[in-house]
Amino acid sequence: MKKSYIWPFANRISHILMMLFFAITYILGDFKNLLSYHVAFGLALGVLFVFRTGWGFVGPRYSRFKDFNFNLQDLKKYMLNVFSKTKEYAGHNPASSYAIIAMIIVAFLSIITGLLAYGIEENHGILSFLHSTYFKNMEIFKDTHEFFSNLFLAIVGIHMVGALMDKFIKKSDAVDSMINGYKKLKKNLHVETNIFQNLYTLIWVAASLFSLYYLIFTKDTIFIANANVKQNYALVHKDFANECGSCHITYPPFLLPKKSWTLMMSNLENHFGDDASIDKATNHSILAFLKQNSAENSTHQAALGILNSLKDDNGTIAITKTSFWKKRHKKISKDVFESAKVKSRANCKACHTDIQNGLIENDLINMPKGV
Ligand code: HEC
Ligand code: HEC
Repeated sequence: MKKSYIWPFANRISHILMMLFFAITYILGDFKNLLSYHVAFGLALGVLFVFRTGWGFVGPRYSRFKDFNFNLQDLKKYMLNVFSKTKEYAGHNPASSYAIIAMIIVAFLSIITGLLAYGIEENHGILSFLHSTYFKNMEIFKDTHEFFSNLFLAIVGIHMVGALMDKFIKKSDAVDSMINGYKKLKKNLHVETNIFQNLYTLIWVAASLFSLYYLIFTKDTIFIANANVKQNYALVHKDFANECGSCHITYPPFLLPKKSWTLMMSNLENHFGDDASIDKATNHSILAFLKQNSAENSTHQAALGILNSLKDDNGTIAITKTSFWKKRHKKISKDVFESAKVKSRANCKACHTDIQNGLIENDLINMPKGV
């Protein structure tokens, strides 16, 4: 048996970075207020995969796709002989060969659908220009993105089970070789990288780390930038801001449909137990403004959710009574809403910075500390 250097530095470092970036991206996906970091790590993972794809053409032996083993007979034998040593594979075994191709394809699908969801649903990033055209179908893009991300996770899972079985049952050194580069083989099959490949490796690692750094620390890159425009209601409609912002926050008009605003404005004398009545002309002007900017006339994610949940409802005038609102806040306990720092469910600004400027961004959700 001879020790042969099979996996150059590029394969090993990119493999580690891919594992790390994917794990972090996947976990961050669960935290709404960390969405921009999820996107940053996901895009940096994309950079790693772009270079890995290139490496499949310009890399050394065993790293190139044409050296992968796609023989179905070999794959079958490999999968069926779980407990016994099979044929020796200097490069990728058939299962890994298929797994790598599947991972590359699914990673790209996941990243592209992620960017679509980010653009269309959140109105953020390079595809935000699609938001106003496709916002009605926003759920489809998010669901597809989740599907591909989970499919990727499943492939990673199978690949890892295979790797562990290789190591502990078949006692092969395939896993170790992904760390130290060496495999014990019958023949000496040393792989060497040329100067071009070394340069490629350097750019590969640098580009992925730099893109991550850049996306995290540069605000408003086109990949993350928010296309939702901040409103100043005091400038847009002074009476609305003054009258409707005197007892509570100024609720952005897109959070209720026209019928709710009409109903509310027709009975300001009995407004949630308060008398909020105003003179007729002001009432008229505020109602016109509310209707003009209502949920029907907005492409905002929340507007669509509220419209859908009030489709067959003609009596609701509280945002917090909509099924959409309840669903989005079901993880938050009653004690938090009743705490001294929040006081009421309707006090949105306790958790949503800038909601009074019409922004309900994931990155701007700041739960009050210590409640
Ligand atoms: C005199 C005080 C007062 C004024 C003025 C007032 N409101 Fe209210 N409003 C309230 C109170 C009290 C509530 C209930 C808040 C709670 O549940 O904590 C409320 C609730 C609301 C809610 C529902 C919040 C939720 O739970 O989803 C909306 C929407 C709303 N007001 C809109 C308006 C608009 C529009 C105007 C201006 C025409 C206005 N309010 C003026 C006192 C006022
Ligand atoms: C106690 C804190 C708190 C209060 C008060 C609160 N929210 Fe939220 N809100 C959250 C959190 C946390 C989330 C994210 C939940 C999740 O992880 O899905 C959220 C999510 C949302 C979303 C969904 C955002 C998205 O991108 O999916 C909307 C819309 C929203 N809130 C609107 C409101 C409005 C309007 C009010 C006031 C009537 C309000 N919230 C009051 C904490 C709060």
